[in-house]
Amino acid sequence: MKTYLVTGGAGFIGSNYIRYMLDRYGDSIRIINVDALTYAGNLENLADIEKLPGYRFIRANITDRDAITAIFAEHDIDCVVHFAAESHVDRSIKNPEIFVQTNVLGTAVMLNAARAAWEDRDGTYAEGKRFLHVSTDEVYGSLEEDGGYFYETTPYAPHSPYSASKASSDMLVKAYVDTYHFPANITNCSNNYGPYQFPEKLIPLIINNALNGRKLPVYGDGKNVRDWLYVTDHAKAIDMVMEKGRPGETYNVGGHNEKQNIEIIHIILDVLREKLPGSDPRRAYINEDLITYVEDRKGHDRRYAIAPDKIKSEIGWEPETMFEEGIRKTIEWYFTHEDWMEHVTSGAYQNYYETMYGPA
Ligand code: NAD
Ligand code: TYD
Repeated sequence: MKTYLVTGGAGFIGSNYIRYMLDRYGDSIRIINVDALTYAGNLENLADIEKLPGYRFIRANITDRDAITAIFAEHDIDCVVHFAAESHVDRSIKNPEIFVQTNVLGTAVMLNAARAAWEDRDGTYAEGKRFLHVSTDEVYGSLEEDGGYFYETTPYAPHSPYSASKASSDMLVKAYVDTYHFPANITNCSNNYGPYQFPEKLIPLIINNALNGRKLPVYGDGKNVRDWLYVTDHAKAIDMVMEKGRPGETYNVGGHNEKQNIEIIHIILDVLREKLPGSDPRRAYINEDLITYVEDRKGHDRRYAIAPDKIKSEIGWEPETMFEEGIRKTIEWYFTHEDWMEHVTSGAYQNYYETMYGPA
């Protein structure tokens, strides 16, 4: 039975990944979710999974070397899936240091602990050990509006403190591969969307603001392009790279779904109007008048777009969810989970740990 150590599993992508894996493999795997529960960690994301026998939650900070070493000592970990990070560009512009601590130092601690637990005396690793580092396409910088894609060979050129910290963590992983023959993979994915995303990111923020009649802030001219990937497609890609990826390789994961931010906002408004019943009073204010152009983000990358050719040809993964379908599923989810959004925006979700596990 394989044991997975998932870091950051209480966040958006991590919780979707854990659900995907336990749905797919059931009792035949074990998942240990290690998360510090920062503002972005929400155990309500995993409320339906909490009691499953194959799942265990451990509250720990990935920068805490002793805590992480103890987890490796106590559990025979086969695979690490490393999501834990500070993940929001706007926050990194305001407070870069925590990004360096968590994303760079935290990754170094995770790599070191895994290597110490896994490396044999002769410098080899047992079959099946694998460390998958989840990274972003933002490490490649920004593309021109009229062409080009990010490939695995594209030179790194990060612009924000967030992407610089992720680029640094990727470099550490590559250094472990080159220096210690450490069995790692890196996945660099495009912007994810779907259920359980914290409403500081564009899509859940726009859905939530529109439903509450609040302004929809558009940075700059609204024509920046992101390549949207449905989160479950991403979870599947991570599982497939873990199973089939060549050790040491990087794989780009993208959705073939390039859209300008302003297009996204129009689509969300259309779908909201389509889904709300005719009698719903919110129909009165959900319209284009809510769109508000605001000051541009500092250093705002113009366009991201991934060519997922390598993961398709080597591993057989392709995105399955087109944006029109994914955004409908996402909005449907937010409609049926208004209590989740209420807990997140009020801060009540931060009490969940105490409710489940007692005082921290
Ligand atoms: P998120 O912000 O929703 O979740 C991050 C999780 O990590 C939270 O549960 C948080 O509590 C935990 N965490 C933060 N600091 C920690 C620490 N020091 N120790 C332990 N846990 C800590 O992030 P996400 O959107 O789910 O992103 C997950 C990963 O995917 C990140 O590495 C991010 O860089 C990468 N990524 C995200 C996107 C995206 O669109 N969301 C795109 C590309 C790459
Ligand atoms: P975001 O979801 O923060 O992801 P990232 O910056 O990692 O790509 O932002 C996606 C795009 O949406 C980005 O171009 C910035 C823009 N944006 C807005 O226009 N308004 C907003 O309120 C937010 C949060 C983002």
